[in-house]
Amino acid sequence: MIRRKAISILSKKTSYDIWIGTNLLKENSNFLQLNLAHKKIAIITDENIHTCQYSNFSNQISDLKINPHLLLIPPGEVSKSWNRLKEILDWLTELNFDRTDYVIAFGGGVVGDLVSLAASLFRRGINLIQVPTTFLSQVDSSVGGKTAINSGPAKNSIGSFYHPKVVFCDTSFLSTLPDRAFLAGYAEVLKMALVFDKDFYKFLIENQKLISSRDESVLQHIIDKSLELKSKVVEIDEKEQGDRALLNFGHTFGHALESYFDYSEKLLHGEAISLGIVLAARFSMEEGYLSESKVDDINVHLNAMKLPTLITQIHNDKLDLVKILRFMKQDKKVVGNNINLILLKDIGNGFIKKDVSFEKLEKFLQSQLS
Ligand SMILES: NC(=O)c1ccc[n+]([C@@H]2O[C@H](COP(=O)([O-])OP(=O)(O)OC[C@H]3O[C@@H](n4cnc5c(N)ncnc54)[C@H](O)[C@@H]3O)[C@@H](O)[C@H]2O)c1
Repeated sequence: MIRRKAISILSKKTSYDIWIGTNLLKENSNFLQLNLAHKKIAIITDENIHTCQYSNFSNQISDLKINPHLLLIPPGEVSKSWNRLKEILDWLTELNFDRTDYVIAFGGGVVGDLVSLAASLFRRGINLIQVPTTFLSQVDSSVGGKTAINSGPAKNSIGSFYHPKVVFCDTSFLSTLPDRAFLAGYAEVLKMALVFDKDFYKFLIENQKLISSRDESVLQHIIDKSLELKSKVVEIDEKEQGDRALLNFGHTFGHALESYFDYSEKLLHGEAISLGIVLAARFSMEEGYLSESKVDDINVHLNAMKLPTLITQIHNDKLDLVKILRFMKQDKKVVGNNINLILLKDIGNGFIKKDVSFEKLEKFLQSQLS
């Protein structure tokens, strides 16, 4: 199945196609030949993806008359750093790229976030193509134009808004994705359904077995639906002045936990979001919005999907609450001594709860994390 979708970011008069299916680079070779001919092309990926999927990628583009340059970066969140950003910018400079040339981000959310930031900075913006290779990047991060690196413990604190020219969500690249990374990506799908779409949530619950077994048509439907939901919110609020912040459901708690564990393999981004979703749902319940049975349903579903719901599944020792709160204070939604939190009024109905005090949060976290 090949779907053609377009999102148009009206405020910036930018629009781009998102393709969903398999063998997409080959299927789009005319488009690619037309755009990439006589251009310099840089493909940036990580070492794992290079080992697992670069032959698939290069087979698909083998008919194109192009001679790309390839840069490999180490895998993992640690690559979303100043050093890697500089390395990419220096490399493009040495190769004499200009802004009409093309950079292809071939990888998961880490490669996508880092390379798109570099693309936005290089000569004030070089052409970018996103070819996401993880479930997370296909359902979420490759679309919407957010770019980022981390600065010390402050997750995604350095970044820009910069959109690709086209996105290819080719599910054939997911064949080598380890289960743990696949499931971590699923957390962002569930987040989208919880915040925006009750029927989509129902679909996910009903199809949890097919999702776990990575049924091709179910996965493509999920990617399609997730990107449709994301596109809609990005269209109305590109720069996250309002409703786009709803996409951060579970992220304030999740990012703090991710930072707490030094962005290590101990807790993947999506796993942190899974824990964050549980905490945000419980907080919604404590604030009187969400019923206990709905919170339980979310828990049951996350457990069925083998995603963590309790911090003790990750870490046996007591967490240092002061440290967690310090990380939460780095969140972009902090206003003075308070924070705006994304909560649920119901399944499919997320909202921004303004001015939650850190005092209240501390009490809540004390009850949940100890
Ligand atoms: N920009 C956004 O809007 C946005 C949204 C959500 C998340 N993010 C960011 O995305 C990042 C997480 O992305 P991720 O979960 O894709 O992690 P990732 O990019 O680190 O990939 C996970 C692991 O899988 C490996 N891998 C990737 N594709 C593979 C494949 N096809 N086969 C085998 N191995 C493969 C990678 O080498 C890595 O080890 C976080 O930094 C998060 O902040 C950004």
